[in-house]
Amino acid sequence: MTTKQNPPPATSGTLAKTWSGRFSEPVSELVKRYTASVNFDRRMAAQDIRGSLAHARMLARQGIIGAEELADIERGMAQIAAEIERGEFNWNLDDEDVHLNIEKRLTALVGDAGKRLHTGRSRNDQVATDIRLWLRDAIDQILALLTALQRRLLDVAEAHAATPMPGFTHLQVAQPVTFGHHLLAYYEMTRRDAERFTDCRRRVNRLPLGAAALAGTTYPIDREFVAHALGFEDLCRNSLDAVSDRDFAIEFCAAVALLMTHLSRLSEELILWMSPRFGFIDLADRFCTGSSIMPQKKNPDVPELVRGKTGRVNGHLVALLTLMKGQPLAYNKDNQEDKEPLFDAADTAIDTLRIYADMIGGVRVRPEAMHAALAQGHATATDLADYLVKKGLPFRDAHEAVAQAVRAAEACGLDIARLPLADLRAALGKTPGAAEKLADDALAALSVEGSLAARAHIGGTAPQAVRAAIARARAALDTDTSAP
Ligand code: ARG
Repeated sequence: MTTKQNPPPATSGTLAKTWSGRFSEPVSELVKRYTASVNFDRRMAAQDIRGSLAHARMLARQGIIGAEELADIERGMAQIAAEIERGEFNWNLDDEDVHLNIEKRLTALVGDAGKRLHTGRSRNDQVATDIRLWLRDAIDQILALLTALQRRLLDVAEAHAATPMPGFTHLQVAQPVTFGHHLLAYYEMTRRDAERFTDCRRRVNRLPLGAAALAGTTYPIDREFVAHALGFEDLCRNSLDAVSDRDFAIEFCAAVALLMTHLSRLSEELILWMSPRFGFIDLADRFCTGSSIMPQKKNPDVPELVRGKTGRVNGHLVALLTLMKGQPLAYNKDNQEDKEPLFDAADTAIDTLRIYADMIGGVRVRPEAMHAALAQGHATATDLADYLVKKGLPFRDAHEAVAQAVRAAEACGLDIARLPLADLRAALGKTPGAAEKLADDALAALSVEGSLAARAHIGGTAPQAVRAAIARARAALDTDTSAP
């Protein structure tokens, strides 16, 4: 059987691809652009070089390449790293991705040794290694920034451990809480976020290298040496799985989506609180912008963007899940699409955390506005019901009696805590057994301070409980950050 050979194309320059041996025509410019990833995966250049050096050292130790070849590779890689650092490296779309760009330059610099680097390796296990190294660094950055944000939250919470504000349910005034307690809710959320990133890091931190294309390799490699050299805690235990799954990236995006969701909720609150209708806080000018038409405006752009960017990272999570779901084992080029969502999710988390720590630290709190809001919604009605229960009334009767008292207070345009004792007694009188329970000490129960102080259990809003929670949180942060 004869096969008709295509004549070499007029612009045969593009055929000189690393894998071009079996091809008879070059890819079109459009396909080249469509399939290339170098414009975005060059972000992993440092990781690619680290991975290659560890691989080369292992090859030399195992006698698969010579000591001189290793020295050439090390010298070439040092130069390439310097070129990249100085912005002098010539990234070339013809060489598809970060891996081939670096390998080609290495060969140009050191000749045959460069051609031996890829022995016992494939771009499939190489890229999986690079992503994991890159992501591990990103997680470490995120964890450090999370700690910084948590410390700021704790500082503001401590300054306002006894500052009362209305707590809301359904965005209606519910019960008094302290502003410090409210902020501690976000501390708890970010603490779970940090746990998630730490946990995700364990699964990221496993070495795929050695899986080669998909089936492992015939050379006498030492995967444990490479893992140790690169700081991986473990090896990917199945070669097919090592090159094909990106579950670790999906997990990371899920952790980012949750982190951003928490910060989005806090942002929503900052925006509401900064509205003159609330007036609870003011954000520093550097996080706000003006309006091009309304001279009086100061808009909370930064928290609004945090809320907006949460949608974007949720999208990245769904993109990665969708990318993975239909792929047969093992590696498929689909996986090249993992990088942009992953990079953007990490960038968004890092930038957001960086801004947020500063923004929270600079919040100006207006305790008077919080106090004024508390005087409006009968926030201590539950406390009066609890008072009656403690004097022996069944809770349901107490609830009904206080509801009557709220109606009476509304009728006089007063908060229930302001209703004179005689009027209160009269209102309670509609429920059998309620009025006679009322004594002078009811006023203390109805006061904001009394309401707060009565909730002194772990997790409660009493200033002393809030201070204890802050101390516990600080101690936990100190142990976490001093951990190896
Ligand atoms: N740029 C590719 C990626 O990001 C590297 C792996 C390519 N492997 C291959 N067999 N074409 O996934």
